[in-house]
Amino acid sequence: MRRGAVCEIAPMPTDPSRRSGESRSSSQGASEAPEPSEPEAFDRLLGILDYPMFIVTARDREERAGCLVGFASQASIRPARFLACLSEKNHTYRVAQRSRRLAVHLVPARAEALAELFGGQTGDRVDKFAACAWHDGPHGLPILDECENWFVGTVAERLPLGDHVGFLLEPDHVHHGTAEGQFTFHRARRIDAGHEA
Ligand SMILES: Cc1cc2nc3c(=O)[nH]c(=O)nc-3n(C[C@H](O)[C@H](O)[C@H](O)COP(=O)(O)O)c2cc1C
Repeated sequence: MRRGAVCEIAPMPTDPSRRSGESRSSSQGASEAPEPSEPEAFDRLLGILDYPMFIVTARDREERAGCLVGFASQASIRPARFLACLSEKNHTYRVAQRSRRLAVHLVPARAEALAELFGGQTGDRVDKFAACAWHDGPHGLPILDECENWFVGTVAERLPLGDHVGFLLEPDHVHHGTAEGQFTFHRARRIDAGHEA
């Protein structure tokens, strides 16, 4: 796509023979590179953003889970609410479905190995908690020692959002350590996710 070009996002065509992006590219010279499809263009656009990464942990009885999360944000000021989105494919999602509360850790810039562990491995195959330092936090949720800034929130709502489910959290325990730089998406995207989205 040309630098600065506008890529219009069209609704899904009802005619299956009309593939996405066809109408624009057909009006251009055959020698020009094909424009990306709308989902690709959207991915590229959002790829510009560099947002902080989180590690969300969950616990149901003796089962602990946690994964690296980029789709997360404060969602309300009063009442305080935070939305953390978990892929339905993840082990963490399945444990979170059975957890009344979740812990959300801010990932410090220096914690690259921890981000790789929680983003690049799946609890379906490995015990991530055997490979890092953690302790029992509020309500028995696993708290990662390397992350000084975290909160625990009660799940107020579970919102189906597509291939992710939004867990709307009502924070009830907040731990504020030293302020430090965050491990962000532009570094995290080099990690091969343990589960495809
Ligand atoms: C840059 C990046 C962002 C990610 N964002 C999310 C996310 O927002 N939600 C999610 O559920 N998984 C996300 N993942 C994927 C999980 O962290 C990854 O698949 C993990 O291995 C799942 O572990 P689990 O199966 O033990 O839950 C992301 C991974 C990377 C590398």
